[in-house]
Amino acid sequence: MTRVGVYPGSFDPITKGHEDLIHRSLAFVDKLVVAVAVNVSKQPLFTLDERVALIEQTVRDKAIEVRSFDGLLVNFARSVGATVIVRGLRAVSDFEYEFQMALMNRTLAPKLETVFLVPAFDLTYLSSSLVREVARFGGDVSALVHPAVQQALHQKLGK
Ligand code: PNS
Repeated sequence: MTRVGVYPGSFDPITKGHEDLIHRSLAFVDKLVVAVAVNVSKQPLFTLDERVALIEQTVRDKAIEVRSFDGLLVNFARSVGATVIVRGLRAVSDFEYEFQMALMNRTLAPKLETVFLVPAFDLTYLSSSLVREVARFGGDVSALVHPAVQQALHQKLGK
């Protein structure tokens, strides 16, 4: 049986923290669908197509598929045959929101399990919003994102 996981998020843009979790997930799923949310409440820096393309350029693995989704995550997960939702937990500050989301998703789809992964220690502080902010002010993000993302930030922000 092929075990499929779904890793949802805004990925605006994908960071080395996301990359780390994607690779860790492959220890327990055969296939991981990285699911880029169409409707993020925040105004994204990158368009949906750009966010998908940047993930594809960053992660090249036959076990990884990059898709976008609109509407409820549980419906998308069902449509790709996923049994597991993967999310990262970095700090206590993530917990409240993640717990709420996991319980809501369980209410909507009781058989879909949410699994939380802890990122590599040196990536724990990393977030897409921090990367955007550092890049916006011309800071060096080369240690935080794939070179393709660094270049895209450079082009987008003219820095
Ligand atoms: O990277 P993010 O912004 O923390 O990702 C949040 C995301 C996209 C995973 C979440 O907002 C989501 O699942 N949105 C889809 C709509 C949905 O299913 N909402 C109910 C979950 S409680």
